[in-house]
This record gives sequence, C-alpha cells and structure tokens, in this order.
Amino acid sequence: MANGGIVGIPTETVYGLAADARNEAAVRSIFEAKGRPQDNPLIVHISCISQLYPLVREIPPLALRIAEKHWPGPLTMIFPKSEMIPVTTSGGLDTIAVRMPSSPAARAIIDAWFPLAAPSANLSGSPSPTTAQHVLKDMDGRVPLIIDGGECSCGVESTVLTFTGADRVRILRPGGVTAEMLSELCNVDIDPAVTSEPEKGAKVLSPGMKYKHYSPKAEVIIVDAHAESFRRWCGEHSGNGVIALSQDSKEEGMFRSFGSDPQEQAHRLFSLLREADDEGAVRVYVEMPSRAGIGLAVYNRLLRAAAFRIVNIDDEK
Ligand code: TXA
Ligand code: MG
Repeated sequence: MANGGIVGIPTETVYGLAADARNEAAVRSIFEAKGRPQDNPLIVHISCISQLYPLVREIPPLALRIAEKHWPGPLTMIFPKSEMIPVTTSGGLDTIAVRMPSSPAARAIIDAWFPLAAPSANLSGSPSPTTAQHVLKDMDGRVPLIIDGGECSCGVESTVLTFTGADRVRILRPGGVTAEMLSELCNVDIDPAVTSEPEKGAKVLSPGMKYKHYSPKAEVIIVDAHAESFRRWCGEHSGNGVIALSQDSKEEGMFRSFGSDPQEQAHRLFSLLREADDEGAVRVYVEMPSRAGIGLAVYNRLLRAAAFRIVNIDDEK
C-alpha cells in the first residue's frame, strides 16, 4: 500500500478493496478495478477514535455518543471533510464517510496503514463479496493481493448515516447498526431512497443509492406472500433455471433456504445471489423479508437486486 497498491481485505460486513485514501493514483485504481462511477465516494476506515480528528473539520457531539456505543462495528458516519483527504476519494463531495470496523483482521491492517479507503470489493453493480473466493471471482487479474479472513460475519455493508440536527440522524443506507439501535440514542429518520426508487435525475444524499446494485446476472423478483402461497405460486411459475429463496428450511426442487431470521438472511443474501449465477439461474424468486432490525438492510439490498420488481400475490387473488 505504501507504493499505491490496492489490496482485497476482510471486514465483518463485506470484503473491501483497500488503498491509501490520500494517494489519488491509488484511489483511481480502486475505481478502475471496480468499474465504479467516479462520483460515488469511498469510505475511509480507521481503527481508533483519535484517527477521526485529522480526517474531518467538525465532529458533532452526537457522533461521539454514537461512536462510543457502536464503534468498532458496522456503522459509517458522514462528516465535513478536512484537507487531508482528496476529493478523488470523496467523489467530489466536501464530506467524508468514516467507519471503524470490528473485524480483528481489518483492524490490524488499518493499524499498519491509516487512512485506508475501501469500497466493497465487488465489480460495480454485482453482489458484494462475503468471502475471499467472491473477491477472487470479481477481481482476478485486477488486484495483486487478497487477504483471506474467512467468511464475513455480518454479510451486508455498514449502516451509513448523516447528521441532520443536534439530536437527529438520517440513515442513508441501512446495515448492521439498525434504526432501532440508533433510536436509543437520538431521533432517527430513514431516507426515502432506502425503500423506494429515486426518480431519474433526482439528487440523492448517498450517491451509491442511485446506481444499479447488488444484482446477479439472473433476474430477481421479490414475492410478497404468506409462506404457503409463496411455495404454491413459485411452483406454478417454475421453469428451467428458475430458483426460489424461501424462508423455511426445506431445500427441495427449485427451493433454497434463505433463513427466517433477519440476521441469518443478511449473512446469506449475497452468497445466495452469487450461487444463483454459479448454477446458471435465469430467474430468482425471493420471499419478501421482514423489515425489522437488520431486515431493513436485507430488504434494501434485495429491492435493488430486483430493480424494484415486487409481485404481491396475496393481493392478486
Ligand atoms: O461495510 C462497508 O461499509 C464496506 C466495507 C468494505 O467497509 N464498504 C462499503 O463501501 O460498502 P461502498 O463504497 O461499497 O459503499 C459506500 C457507500 C456508498 O453508497 C456511497 O455512496 C456512500 O457510502 N458514501 C460514501 N461517502 C459518502 C458521503 N460523503 N456522503 C454520502 N454518502 C457517502
Ligand atoms: Mg458497494
């Protein structure tokens, strides 16, 4: 990294593609390796709170209260950017997103190299990687080194929030630190872009939200239905290369288990979408997840993977 190289690294959320956040050439090679639009800013990773100060111009007192409770962990906060970080890293914005991961491997790497810019280590638009093998699949020939830290425990990317008042935050991307957890500390709004499709050309607070995301090659369709009607409807709409992710554990025929617990669903979502591609699926029906807790993050990623296609069967009858 000292020479401007990029490295695939494990974190507790998803694997990242890391480089020196101050080195513009290195940061440009991250964008290039991912095929990422240049106006989509990167997150800067730190391993202790004292590293936050040189990165930012101002720290709201609420940020320190939240950090005390939820850092290290799957949470990214947005601050006014200092001069230390170039606009190439912040996608042209004068703000900077900062996260302190809890994974020991990530922390050891950041201890050795600060400040570290790292987006998820997938090709732009495809499901995020939760194993080193996923990173290799997307980045073979594009990055010289991937550090294998095993499977990511959380499985979806960090919660991204911004400060909108002395006692108020807005969630721009839901993740492992949930709205319910943050509500214990302050007022919490959820940005409309979390659960709905931004209108064409509309300004979104988190640039990542406007891009096609998390999509396998197969067409994904969310099916809003009770468990039995889901199984019946999928059976009626089965075909070559059609699979279904159901919340019960019966894995037979077209059905794969997605799990019934939101934590488990978060852990498995990206792997399941990648496996669908590996087995050549053309369409994946997914049973509508709960939106409580980390379920909101699962729903948010699925909506984008499905390009907002939802079939509501119980209404159809
Ligand atoms: O869990 C994670 O956050 C992972 C691991 C590797 O740490 N990283 C990750 O990075 O998901 P990335 O680049 O895939 O997603 C960063 C998201 C994007 O949606 C981006 O638009 C948003 O954070 N973001 C970054 N800087 C921002 C800023 N200054 N203002 C608003 N949104 C920002
Ligand atoms: Mg990403």
